[in-house]
Amino acid sequence: MAVVPSSFLSLLVLCGGLCYAAASPLNQIQESYPDSAVVTRVRQAETRIEQQLQRKSSGTKKLALDQILLDVVAPISEVDPQFLSVTIDSGDISRNWSGITFTAQRIINMARGLAPAMLRVGGTSGDYLIFNSSTAETVQQSNFTMTPQQWDEVNKFVETVGWDFVFGLNALLRTPYPNGSWDSDNARMLLSYSTSRKLYRPVGAWKWCATEPDMWGTAIPAEDHAKDFLTLRDLVAEEKTLGKMLIGPDVAYKMDYFTEYVVSTISFLPPFFNFCRFIQSLPQGLLSATTYHQYYGNGSTAKLPQCYDVNLLDSLIHVAVYFQASTEALQPQADLWLGETSSFYGSGAPNLSNTYVAGFLWLDKLGIAAVVGHKRVFRHDFIGGYFALLDANQNPLPDYWLSLLYKKLVGTKVVYVNGSLEYGRYLRVYAHCAKAPYPAGSVVLLLLNTNFTTATAELLNEDLASSYRDVFWLSPPAGDLTSTSVLLNGVLLELVDNRDLPHLVPAEDSPGSSLSVPSISFGFVVFRDTKIPACT
Ligand SMILES: *[C@@H]1O[C@H](CO)[C@@H](O)[C@H](O)[C@H]1NC(C)=O
Ligand SMILES: *[C@@H]1O[C@H](CO)[C@@H](O)[C@H](O)[C@H]1NC(C)=O
Ligand SMILES: *[C@@H]1O[C@H](CO)[C@@H](O)[C@H](O)[C@H]1NC(C)=O
Ligand SMILES: *[C@@H]1O[C@H](CO)[C@@H](O)[C@H](O)[C@H]1NC(C)=O
Ligand SMILES: *[C@@H]1O[C@H](CO)[C@@H](O)[C@H](O)[C@H]1NC(C)=O
Ligand SMILES: *[C@@H]1O[C@H](CO)[C@@H](O)[C@H](O)[C@H]1NC(C)=O
Ligand SMILES: *[C@@H]1O[C@H](CO)[C@@H](O)[C@H](O)[C@H]1NC(C)=O
Ligand SMILES: *[C@@H]1O[C@H](CO)[C@@H](O)[C@H](O)[C@H]1NC(C)=O
Repeated sequence: MAVVPSSFLSLLVLCGGLCYAAASPLNQIQESYPDSAVVTRVRQAETRIEQQLQRKSSGTKKLALDQILLDVVAPISEVDPQFLSVTIDSGDISRNWSGITFTAQRIINMARGLAPAMLRVGGTSGDYLIFNSSTAETVQQSNFTMTPQQWDEVNKFVETVGWDFVFGLNALLRTPYPNGSWDSDNARMLLSYSTSRKLYRPVGAWKWCATEPDMWGTAIPAEDHAKDFLTLRDLVAEEKTLGKMLIGPDVAYKMDYFTEYVVSTISFLPPFFNFCRFIQSLPQGLLSATTYHQYYGNGSTAKLPQCYDVNLLDSLIHVAVYFQASTEALQPQADLWLGETSSFYGSGAPNLSNTYVAGFLWLDKLGIAAVVGHKRVFRHDFIGGYFALLDANQNPLPDYWLSLLYKKLVGTKVVYVNGSLEYGRYLRVYAHCAKAPYPAGSVVLLLLNTNFTTATAELLNEDLASSYRDVFWLSPPAGDLTSTSVLLNGVLLELVDNRDLPHLVPAEDSPGSSLSVPSISFGFVVFRDTKIPACT
């Protein structure tokens, strides 16, 4: 008889409402991670999170998919006001910001619409970026130069639009490579230059770029990166006027969900181990936030039906729980940020990532990340590639409008929707307290119908059933899921005079015990006269 490891049995026992694929990476960590005490702590945190989420749905009777029941007593979590944030890739600096016109009023208006938010400039190329305070030339090699003008432009921009800023530093500047320690001279030059420029508000946070697998491979052990982070801490501490948040480690893993809707343990485990080893090696409290990256798959091979495939959407759940559990166990004072994420990697999928249908992946991710306890989610990216919020001509794509609506309606307190992390939900529902000027006590539902038929959802909370509703429903023109335009309540969303943001006008709906959710589409419904205690 085969010997079954005890960890495997305990996993089966745990596997209730929130059920992972049997080949749990955490299960394998037990066998291969060097420090078993750490694994035990991570598993305990994982169990705690599961129980918190399951407690809510461990009632006698399982709800049907089309029944909506909120836990109105207390919020399950609270996200940061900058929860929905954005990135710009460091690689754009090597192309002199790829023609992004930071000073154009329409760009400023669209960016302001997303405030409060944080801009993260980082990415693989950031490990080849060298700041040079005494040159105006961008050297185009594998290493490239960031000029003071380029640095000033982005800093002025974030100040103008009311964003915060986190910048990824080059972690490959090491002497001697690969065994030596981090050479902080270039970072010091950038920090002193920033201090000397009093015109813009200080960079809030610093991080490694270090997104490349080779960075987190055997060449430079995670523990050595952690030692170098202490050097960074000391350096940042010297600059009195700059932000001091330290963020990391930005691990990325290659996913191919399209053949198996579980995380491939082969590609997931090494980065996940590095994440744990890095944060475990740092003194408590040093990190303001831990970070990882997530994509649903390869942009070159993505297909339309994957964008609303509930199995693909669900694949984020256990990944999010693992990183949340590890952070809670190993750096409990730190927040967890999904530091770079989008639909599909490799600049996104042509005709999918830049179209209406990508909104399923984006809105569902925002829903899951908030319930699990993540504090921020950084959309890659604001501009650049198929997966951006603005297209190559700097015009808003459907996901920009979705993000704008999210910012306008969705507050920081997360209200638990009974069973909202169950697998296989064709009707996906998340809830937050609605944002002011909606009154305290009002709630907004984030709704996605992945079916090609209309769903009728039963509202089980009396509070919801008796409230007037503001409906903000997004649909594609002529039902074309791959449209680069989007309708709000049937009206095309576009800039006014090609420059200003339009008013986002709701459709009013009367009270009632059911809610009709149009086929294969998504949107927001604000219940504006509820007085639910979780939101007061
Ligand atoms: C979730 O739903 C189940 C089944 O209806 C119920 O027993 C349980 O109390 C619900 N949880 C909350 C927090 O409402
Ligand atoms: C900055 O650029 C100048 C002029 O091209 C060059 O002489 C100097 O070595 C560069 N410094 C760094 C740190 O790259
Ligand atoms: C980059 O673009 C700016 C205009 O945005 C221009 O002033 C500057 O000369 C360019 N720099 C380089 C190195 O091409
Ligand atoms: C890039 O910079 C790193 C760190 O200074 C250095 O080791 C490497 O040789 C440089 N690469 C090129 C092509 O100059
Ligand atoms: C780096 O360290 C490893 C193991 O400690 C050693 O095998 C290797 O030779 C070193 N490389 C250099 C360039 O010093
Ligand atoms: C993505 O898919 C393309 C086409 O199959 C392939 O060439 C590329 O290597 C893949 N990218 C990654 C990172 O696996
Ligand atoms: C994207 O769609 C356009 C028009 O619908 C089409 O001409 C183009 O070939 C498509 N591109 C790809 C990469 O599928
Ligand atoms: C939704 O679609 C799935 C298959 O995609 C089907 O099994 C299910 O019955 C549908 N539900 C409704 C309510 O139409």
